[in-house]
Amino acid sequence: MSDPEGVRHFLTINAANYRRPSVVRRIGVPLGGSGLFLAEGAEWRRQRKLLAPTFTPSSINVLVPHFHEAARHLLHDAEGKPSVNLSRAFQDTALEAVLRALFSMPENRAREELSALVRGYIEGAGRPGLLDGFAPSDNSFGFALGKRRRFQSKWFAAIAAIIAQRKAEPRSADNRDFLDLLLQLKDADTGEMLSDDEIRDQSATMFFAGSETTARLMFWSGYLLTLDREEQQRLSSEIAAFPPDRVRMLEDLANWPRLRNVLLEALRLYPPLPHIVRQANGPDTISGTSVAANDQIWASAWIMQRHRKFWQNPTAFMPDRFAGKSAPWVQMPSYIPFGVGPRICIGLHFALSEAQIVLAHLLARYRITVVGTRLVMPVGRVTIEPDYEPMFRLERI
Ligand code: HEM
Repeated sequence: MSDPEGVRHFLTINAANYRRPSVVRRIGVPLGGSGLFLAEGAEWRRQRKLLAPTFTPSSINVLVPHFHEAARHLLHDAEGKPSVNLSRAFQDTALEAVLRALFSMPENRAREELSALVRGYIEGAGRPGLLDGFAPSDNSFGFALGKRRRFQSKWFAAIAAIIAQRKAEPRSADNRDFLDLLLQLKDADTGEMLSDDEIRDQSATMFFAGSETTARLMFWSGYLLTLDREEQQRLSSEIAAFPPDRVRMLEDLANWPRLRNVLLEALRLYPPLPHIVRQANGPDTISGTSVAANDQIWASAWIMQRHRKFWQNPTAFMPDRFAGKSAPWVQMPSYIPFGVGPRICIGLHFALSEAQIVLAHLLARYRITVVGTRLVMPVGRVTIEPDYEPMFRLERI
């Protein structure tokens, strides 16, 4: 379904008739348990309402120092190297940013191990296979799920240990992270706090939903800037006028409107999640097409955001098209990099502010170019990946 009206129908107007398909659940449950991404119906509504306060701008402000730290680490790693694999580096940075933001985890072995565990899963047992495609329910072909279950028990035990340690040693109020925010959450109706398992599942969910996606956004933005040197130059001037170290809270990011528009344009051309998939609970009609129970419906941000019906010069990199658009994911029906409707990405401000801060640190210090002339082509898997990982030359400004 690549028609904005149809997409609005099944993701917003009649969203209650659709759920995440079993292939997504089979891969997602070991990563995020029964956290927000996989919850459905009344349970999803309860979780979304409960978690909303942790994603408001004032909560994200708490995370800004963590984004700076992750960016400084990237700079430290790149220092003195003639060229850098920025695709890899951004993945490390995004993992680091999310682990710092979630658990204030400094650079240490535990963080490396956690990152390696999840990366191993995503590259191995976490990839969809043939049996996932045919599985009529989450648990069918159970024999094919052994590796995923083993991963889940290791991964959940690791996160549970972090939470137990934090509860034993609370942190000071001026030095908080996402876990502190979760530990304080109270259900407005019942007054209940989150259980340890719920905190574990929500933390794990944010970890997997927030790392690879943001890494891809940073990669494609960086790559596009190597193809448009003038835009990169303009961006460097914008950042020089308000250096990254002056960013203390989200409001400060308003000093970089160009950088924001570059990110929005990169999300248009290379939406990190190219497709949003649902399965129908019951029959429906979408833009004149009949849908039966259990049919899968795919919305493709990748197609809609490059379609000449909806965009002028659709394949051109033109960040200015977003000038003055405060929330294009709401204002422009054919712009859905974060989805649309009640299940729109809860972490979008988290992602945009992290990417702005990391890229600003990089571009404040370096002019970036790609080594060689081979173009990088996008490949749509779970995220839009580069077909090869180019090396980037970082030239000190
Ligand atoms: C550039 C980065 C990101 C992109 C492009 C992105 C994209 C998306 C999209 C398209 C959806 C909707 C999926 C659907 O309707 O099926 C979504 C949902 C979600 N995202 Fe993001 N995301 C990003 C970053 C993040 C971050 C940083 C976090 C958390 C820290 C996060 C957490 C979530 C969660 C929990 C959901 C499920 C929301 C729900 O079902 O209510 N995302 N994301």
